[in-house]
Amino acid sequence: MYLKNGQASLWWQEAAIYQIYPRSFQDLNGDGEGDLPGVISRLSYLKELGVDAIWLSPFYTSPNKDGGYDVSNPRDVDPRFGDMSDAVSLIEEAHKVGLRVIVDIVPNHFSTEHIWFKAALDSEPGSKERARFHFFDGRGEDGAIPPNNWCSIFGGPAWSRVTDSDGQPGQWYLHLFDSTQADLNWTNEEVHKDFEETLRFWLDKGVDGFRIDVAHGLVKDEILQDHRDPEGLTRALRLDVSDMPREQRESLLSDVPFFDRDGVHEIYRNWRKIFDSYPGDRMSVAEAWVHPSSRATLYVRPDELHQIFNFDFLIAEWDAKFLANAVEKTLQEVAAVSAPPTWVLSNHDSPRLVSRMGGGELGEKKARAIALLTHALPGGVYVFQGEELGLPDAPLSDADRQDPVFFRTKGVDKGRDGARVPLPWNSEQNNFGFTSGKPWLPIPANWIDKSVEAQKMLNEENRLSFLRLYQKSLQLRKLFADSNFNWLIRSNEVIGFSRGSEYAIYSNTSGEELQVSLPETFDSFEVMICSAPQEQLGRSGEGTLQLPPHSTTWVKRLK
Ligand code: GLC
Repeated sequence: MYLKNGQASLWWQEAAIYQIYPRSFQDLNGDGEGDLPGVISRLSYLKELGVDAIWLSPFYTSPNKDGGYDVSNPRDVDPRFGDMSDAVSLIEEAHKVGLRVIVDIVPNHFSTEHIWFKAALDSEPGSKERARFHFFDGRGEDGAIPPNNWCSIFGGPAWSRVTDSDGQPGQWYLHLFDSTQADLNWTNEEVHKDFEETLRFWLDKGVDGFRIDVAHGLVKDEILQDHRDPEGLTRALRLDVSDMPREQRESLLSDVPFFDRDGVHEIYRNWRKIFDSYPGDRMSVAEAWVHPSSRATLYVRPDELHQIFNFDFLIAEWDAKFLANAVEKTLQEVAAVSAPPTWVLSNHDSPRLVSRMGGGELGEKKARAIALLTHALPGGVYVFQGEELGLPDAPLSDADRQDPVFFRTKGVDKGRDGARVPLPWNSEQNNFGFTSGKPWLPIPANWIDKSVEAQKMLNEENRLSFLRLYQKSLQLRKLFADSNFNWLIRSNEVIGFSRGSEYAIYSNTSGEELQVSLPETFDSFEVMICSAPQEQLGRSGEGTLQLPPHSTTWVKRLK
């Protein structure tokens, strides 16, 4: 698969990539927030987990109004995370142990603390300083009505009005996210130049790739026109659509004036030339929610980006039909542009996997099973820190919350902090080895059993902890990287597929134990791994396989 000039696949095409949210990973200086030296200290853990690369969410200078996605200097390190020498050491140390490093780039907006925005505030309407953002006069006699009616994806209006030096209300600027994240104007050549400089800056430091934040957002159309249903559109974009008729949702998402405009591809064609001018297979992955999903393939045409997150599994149900359709659709779509697929079960913007699967013991069972299914699919897989520990969303009090989504929706949407709680490394009370200080978000007391230390101790062959399950499947998947994918069964309860001629994978999404017949060539087989504790683990069987309720099993053909 994805053979390039007859060579084996490139490192990222079948890679398992671990997302680090630096603020919540490991704190070494005792201030209660994770840092880059903390990441360095845990590289051996990541190596042992079996991932091929790490992706670091932003660690750049930032007032941290949106977890660092409000960047005020993309070419420096925020003191809360360390300094530039720590970033360079991290890249070097990761490379030494054979881990690649992907960093975030946030091209849709700058923090309002960025020097460009400050200069824009100090300059006149119509100035070149303001032209780097979307500044417009308001409507109405005194300009008090925003230039259009777009809503921020985080809630509230997408425009804020500035105050001029004489204390009078002035122009408005666009922010699709928080009011501290001013959208950049990508029709401005300076913006292109500046981002190209940032890409080169980090490529020169040795990073292996970039995760491109809101990659579909840079180009805006019809910026001075009202949208017919701005609130509906925002709800649809935030997947808050349980009571929205499907047709309405489809129609809203299929034409968003600020997302997935055709002009965005020119930018990535230029970026691709930069990536290709560096030695060593540098890569890029787009965060781009597009509709219909087939448009995702446009971002990974051969002269554009390398990967795009496939978010089908981020919202997937534990349902054989749903999963089989999602897999089939994805494989067909990417085949058309010969890009490898990607799979994502969770990230820092979504509920944690166990919670999304319903929580509790059953949620854990389903989460283990869907993870094992995902790890067996062709292409790249992304693992969000803590997913490998089976962490649920942490319950938080409103006083603890920091996500701008919580504030901008006036608490209606609790936001994403529950998935961003620091990792429990060991059983030390209150701080769980994450910090010697006070964690920036409280770690639930009952996470002691879920700590890395606790899960490493639970190491019986038949009862794999979450961590052991992930370690094992991330190692075993390498056996069939690059092997063909073929369906074996797609029923209402069971999905089965083979990888190459030696491996078969089955998921049972029902609550009953089921039996499947294996293909003839698998007359004699061995169970390699199963998400449910099961007796035949590691034993061989003949012709048929028992599938425990809510489980995934991998088998290997013997002879
Ligand atoms: C992306 C990030 C998210 C952030 C938003 C605005 O979706 O993943 O965390 O809030 O962009 O930058």
